[in-house]
Amino acid sequence: MSGPNTSYDPVEVSALDPAAIDEAVSAALTAIAAAGSLGELKAVRTEHAGDKSALALANREIGALPPTAKAEAGKRVGQARGRVGQALKERQAELEDERDQRILIDEAVDMSLVPRRAPMGHRHPIELMGTRIADIMVGMGWEIAEGPEIEAEWFNFDALNFDIDHPARQMQDTFYVDPPSAGLVLRTHTSPVQARAMLERGAPLYVGCIGRVFRTDELDATHMPAFHQVEGLAVDEGITMANLKGTLDRLASELFGEGITTRLRPSYFPFTEPSAEMDLRCFVCRGTDPDCRACSGTGWIEWGGCGMVNQNVLRACGIDTDRFSGFAFGMGVDRALMFRTGVADMREMIEGDVRFDAQFGLEI
Ligand code: DAH
Repeated sequence: MSGPNTSYDPVEVSALDPAAIDEAVSAALTAIAAAGSLGELKAVRTEHAGDKSALALANREIGALPPTAKAEAGKRVGQARGRVGQALKERQAELEDERDQRILIDEAVDMSLVPRRAPMGHRHPIELMGTRIADIMVGMGWEIAEGPEIEAEWFNFDALNFDIDHPARQMQDTFYVDPPSAGLVLRTHTSPVQARAMLERGAPLYVGCIGRVFRTDELDATHMPAFHQVEGLAVDEGITMANLKGTLDRLASELFGEGITTRLRPSYFPFTEPSAEMDLRCFVCRGTDPDCRACSGTGWIEWGGCGMVNQNVLRACGIDTDRFSGFAFGMGVDRALMFRTGVADMREMIEGDVRFDAQFGLEI
């Protein structure tokens, strides 16, 4: 059995050489300082403090040293490992701190940001105006009827007493639906709904119709090829022009303000006799300002047509003219909207810019 190797010289164990240990420490510290992320630091830890690192190797060598040399070498290696371990710990803390700061920035939620909401849609002001007019009529006890936008020529013209050669029937005024022989037009007014209502419901009858009508007009500030009308028809016993005037005045003041009345001027429509143009008391100056821009100083604004329903129309629609008489009126909804809101150019109403509609909200 051999005794302890007394001739063992620790200096010869290169892993325990102080210079080698210093070198291992400084290599480890440099690598630790250079580690830019926790992942990199993990690799550095394995390389410089792991089982196969120079310092771990040196540590293992200590066991083979003679007892006299163990304390010295143990101290040296222990201090070296302690420095590296401390540096690792500090860098780990720094990198974790950096990571946490980054997360706070990257994942920050700005509670002051206005949430992005889908903008609210709006009902179109023309539609709102129509609804408002319908409400007023219903409030007077009238019914609301509808008719087709593609209308039989007979309802649009013949039933309403238009002569066969009446200029309104010309292609340059009316959109005919192909083929023209089918006798279909895009209705040029809401008056055909009068004929439909009389045929369907008979007298007595109080009916309004609000809808879209079409004419071959060029689009400009005051004309649209598609626009809207409101039609009224009352058929009952003893109906006179006084009832017509009273109804129009009521509509006018409900729509444009108390005290706004109407004025009738003689006119001609095939479906009424007598017929009248209807003017509206200027709702801006009420007839008091000779320089008023809304009415050009006349005190009145043209709004539509009206009259006593022509007996030919009543007869064509099966109404007993010995017993019943009626009045009718028709005016522009778009024009009413212009009056009420000061919109000067009709094109704005149909461009479909939601910002225009939004100004009117749900009430006009
Ligand atoms: N339909 C006519 C037009 O579009 C307006 C009108 C005038 C309607 C007189 C009526 C009325 O009911 O009696 O110009």
